[in-house]
Amino acid sequence: MLTSNYTGSTKPSLYNDAVMLNDLSRDELISRERALLERFAIHKEAGLALDLTRGKPSPEQLSLSDELDAMVGGEFRASDGTDLRNYGGLTGMSEARELGAELLGIGAEDVIAGGNSSLTLMYQYLLHAWLHGPLDTKTAWRLEPGPTKFLCVVPGYDRHFTIVENLGFELLNVRLTDSGPDMDQIEDLVSSDPSIKGIWCVPKYSNPTGHVYADNTVKRLAHIPKIAGPNFRIMWDNAYAVHDFDDNPPVLANIFSHCETAGTKDSVIQFASTSKVTRAGAGISFLAASQANRDSFIKTLGIQTIGPDKLNQLRHVRFLKNIDGIRVLMRGHAAIVKPKFDLVVQHLTDGLTSDSIGSWTTPRGGYFLSFEAPKGLATEIVRLSAEAGVKLTPAGATFPHGQDPNNSNIRIAPTYPSLDEIDQAMPVFVTAVSLAAVRKLLQSSEKHA
Ligand SMILES: Cc1ncc(COP(=O)(O)O)c(C=O)c1O
Repeated sequence: MLTSNYTGSTKPSLYNDAVMLNDLSRDELISRERALLERFAIHKEAGLALDLTRGKPSPEQLSLSDELDAMVGGEFRASDGTDLRNYGGLTGMSEARELGAELLGIGAEDVIAGGNSSLTLMYQYLLHAWLHGPLDTKTAWRLEPGPTKFLCVVPGYDRHFTIVENLGFELLNVRLTDSGPDMDQIEDLVSSDPSIKGIWCVPKYSNPTGHVYADNTVKRLAHIPKIAGPNFRIMWDNAYAVHDFDDNPPVLANIFSHCETAGTKDSVIQFASTSKVTRAGAGISFLAASQANRDSFIKTLGIQTIGPDKLNQLRHVRFLKNIDGIRVLMRGHAAIVKPKFDLVVQHLTDGLTSDSIGSWTTPRGGYFLSFEAPKGLATEIVRLSAEAGVKLTPAGATFPHGQDPNNSNIRIAPTYPSLDEIDQAMPVFVTAVSLAAVRKLLQSSEKHA
């Protein structure tokens, strides 16, 4: 479903060399390097200061929700008459829970509507499971005799990885394929190692590649707790559930339904937020889980807070109304964001296809796309781009501990810069990629000379 020339990290050999450049003689490579250095010098002289690192909405996107701010306007009661200015409502106002349920395609009874950040809820949940056990204290992960481990789908979201690193887990890389995480690898790992306690998943428009998990992957994931045991948790971060670019978006299978069929509903914890729908860092977060999980988690949550900011929830409910309201708003986002993704892809295609250097994804939604440089070159490409005034996410950032074993993945975040800025930044990136690739070939031809 992903339009892509990116084959996922299951076939790293494809990225090993710049195939077409390979055909050039040493003299041709030297003259190619000279031409690229001239182009690079022109980029440097332009004195650019551009940034392709920020995975956040642009001011134009944020302005789409400006009406939000006026939505409370002295009318502070929920539809059942509750005065939302006061303490209480640990699991959120009921209309906000319904909104979260529609966003995730599940029942409102399973949803907790929280504060401003789903990442905070993820941390709180994992800390709870670590200290007090996912369901009861006897199962607390901290009581495990040896090291505990967590599966990290790579390339992935750095903040997920640092949460489990912070809690003392050993992090195990799982390859991302075009249909989602490599399920054979996961099944092998969990069947031979009971110290693996969970997995991070960004199932729709995965950060940073934009992949959407295939139906069969979701189904197989729902069966993993049967191998890994009841203490295993799938951290299902559906951060980009509604961030579609087109009107016929890919449909993500419902993990709750698959878990219900497999008898593993207690093993999945779902998350989402409106951070990239309305206000980044000032939206509503959602956690959805089975009753047993919620009952257990709420005991810890209720010690940390008396309740979330329900007035923020109220303004969101009034502004967004329901899933149809969300979809209309997201069309506005797509109209701003998609041309930026298109422009990035256009530059990559025009600049790199004829030499067959690297590969990249063309997501149908979300916030990021992913570039796979020829093996070993990501750090050098990031360095060269910075030298010519274009800041990129550090190489390795999409892997646990910042260590990309192939040194090839680079995350590109097109939402924040303007079209004009992208149009200036991408030629620099393309030149940096070509220069790094040509130099690599020159070095190896030197060795073989
Ligand atoms: C996959 C993913 N999850 C969560 C977040 C952060 O969400 P929130 O703002 O709700 O904490 C991000 C932000 O980039 C993200 O990419």
